[in-house]
Amino acid sequence: MSVKEKYIGLLVFTCIIIFMGSMTITSCNKTSKDQKSDFVERLISKMTLEEKIGQMSQLHGENASRDGKFLALVRDGLAGSVLNESDPEQINLIQHVAVDESRLGIPVLFARDVIHGFKTIFPINIGLAATFNPELIRQSAAIWAQEAHSAGIRWTFAPMVDISRDPRWGRMAESFGEDVYLTTLMGLAVNEGFQQKQENGSIYLATCAKHFVGYGAVEGGRDYNTVNIPEIELHNTYFKPFKALSESGVSTFMTSFTDLNGVPASGNSYLFREVLKTDWGFQGFVVSDWASIEEQITHGYAENPKEAAKKAVLAGVDMEMASGTFAENLKQLVEDGVIPETIVDEAVRRILTLKLDLGLFDQPYAIPDTRANDSAHLILAKEAALQSMVLLKNDNEVLPLSPAIKKLAVIGPMANDRYEQLGTWIFDGDTNLTITPLAALQKELGETRVVYVHGLDYSRDRKTIGFEKAVKAAESAEAVVVIVGEEAIITGEAHSRAGLELPGAQNELIKILSETGKPVIVVIMTSRPLTIGSISDYAEAIIYAWHPGTMGGPALADILLGYYAPSGKLPVTFPKVPGQIPIYYSHKNTGRPPSKESWTPLYDIPVRAFQTSVGNTSHYLDAGFEPLYPFGFGLSYTSFEYSNIKVSSPTIKSGDTLRVCSTITNTGKVAANEVVQFYLRDVTAEITRPVKELKGIKRLFLSPGQQQEVCFEITEDDLVYYDKNGKSIIENGIFYAWIGGDSTTELKTEFVLEK
Ligand code: NOJ
Repeated sequence: MSVKEKYIGLLVFTCIIIFMGSMTITSCNKTSKDQKSDFVERLISKMTLEEKIGQMSQLHGENASRDGKFLALVRDGLAGSVLNESDPEQINLIQHVAVDESRLGIPVLFARDVIHGFKTIFPINIGLAATFNPELIRQSAAIWAQEAHSAGIRWTFAPMVDISRDPRWGRMAESFGEDVYLTTLMGLAVNEGFQQKQENGSIYLATCAKHFVGYGAVEGGRDYNTVNIPEIELHNTYFKPFKALSESGVSTFMTSFTDLNGVPASGNSYLFREVLKTDWGFQGFVVSDWASIEEQITHGYAENPKEAAKKAVLAGVDMEMASGTFAENLKQLVEDGVIPETIVDEAVRRILTLKLDLGLFDQPYAIPDTRANDSAHLILAKEAALQSMVLLKNDNEVLPLSPAIKKLAVIGPMANDRYEQLGTWIFDGDTNLTITPLAALQKELGETRVVYVHGLDYSRDRKTIGFEKAVKAAESAEAVVVIVGEEAIITGEAHSRAGLELPGAQNELIKILSETGKPVIVVIMTSRPLTIGSISDYAEAIIYAWHPGTMGGPALADILLGYYAPSGKLPVTFPKVPGQIPIYYSHKNTGRPPSKESWTPLYDIPVRAFQTSVGNTSHYLDAGFEPLYPFGFGLSYTSFEYSNIKVSSPTIKSGDTLRVCSTITNTGKVAANEVVQFYLRDVTAEITRPVKELKGIKRLFLSPGQQQEVCFEITEDDLVYYDKNGKSIIENGIFYAWIGGDSTTELKTEFVLEK
């Protein structure tokens, strides 16, 4: 019997009522809020306590359908959700057991980490952020959703909106970088793309804002490490993208593995009961991260699995991922009166409501979607890769290369690796679709004009045996493109690094190739900033390609050959050395801000210099205070000039909208896109504010010589900040405003807030 048949009485009843009531609503999918809640309440009233706890349990499902015990749990209604099964046949098999053989026939919610693509892989998220193009990212996520939905997946664990300011942390890969505004825009775009509506009115894929909260601030950038964030910082930085997602209808939230200010997130009632569910009024449900409920014991916060379950449920966690503390202990906890059954009911209500919104009760099975392999997916993946690549250096306009080049040497371990260019989190990625840079350049130039040597077998390879061949190839060519980076496995979860150099003998490879005297163009594929300062000494051009995904090759070829002028901008500050971390543009000013004048580099300090003679300001003797590359930075094949900044009024009052405008001119020879950035600073406040904060972005396409005025609007809302209780503060006083091509822009104006 199908779900629909089981509930036919209820559904038909509901539909007739709707039909008679308004004559416009004829489908059960379009039930009103009340009717939905009627459906859910009636279902809950029929459930045993075990079945309710079953809904709150997410089981690991990979290959599980072959396991009798697993299917027995599904049959008993004890598997509310299953993660990591993405084979449509297996999904349907499990779902048939749930729907046809379990007592109430409640469908299983299948979940998967669909992070930057499903079969077609788009650039890694930090690369997507470099596009500064939320609309493109929205469209991209819609494609990921369609492909995953076609396999039967209905819930993804994305977007991750952890503010990420430490490149040692491997999971910077999955983040949108260091900035609150950019992360929020990108998170919202991903959310909207995944939750687009199908023709039947249900959303494609439910989303998950993760990891609430502060995971990106792990001490030392070491994954899973302790997190300490003052409340003011939580409200002004880390909470912001999550709050925006909660307001925009993200389906679920995930806890973080970490301990925040002494309390593991999975047992943190301040985060989930107080802030999320009460203050923000979040209506979806909360899932724990993998086994993190049980890990409260290891954290030293719970004595045993029973206490761990109790703390998690009381904190507001509705579903447990992977570990079984709910399944094993919740019934007893309820029967003993430790946990009121109403709390369990509330969790189940949230879970069932999402299942209903997803249309699972109507159509629970995987139905292959012919559009899932559409060539449009590859076209958009290429567009995203094009817009994500950041040109960091281009001396003597060595780029673009002439398409008439007679011989091009393509060298390096990442030049022709169909898997590694996809990056982390590509469980279902189809490497058969990958086009590598080598393949794309060979296609563009013809095989005889491209000489390829990998030089190193993989990024960490320390054997220099292939160098001789690489040098010969370089000598035979007019230019050398060296494609290096980090293999996917060195990035992502649990893959933190203390050093940020290119691994293996890649630096040596670049150096030896530069000694040939041929122009060397270095392309870096990775998912974090690397300390690549020394490469600048040997390379004439540097392109940061991130892990660019399936279509990374054709995108890179287009950029190298000048068919596309780069427009990517850095979503994160690049340190010169790891010792500068944390380094981010929106820092506080300090009482002693550094300047070029106040910095004497380590080796220039006279021997036995007087203690205060070297300028007592906030800098490093050996690294100064500036980054290698600032946030928002990226070159193109043209240049842009910013001028004539003006503000529509010297003052802003409550209810006003102020405009800050500037003229941007393409002063070079090539038509190109530019990401125009708008920054603000609250100069004096009761709680000190950052030296600059991104508040607006606009993409422009300008032909050579073309000029355009770009304006950003400001209302009082843009000038708000929060105290430690999350109460908004808005204070009279001076604000600075800048417009420019990166976060170091000095094109500034100011205005005064007078409420
Ligand atoms: C652990 C990761 O932290 C989380 O981001 C992911 O979604 C889950 N595992 C499920 O794979």
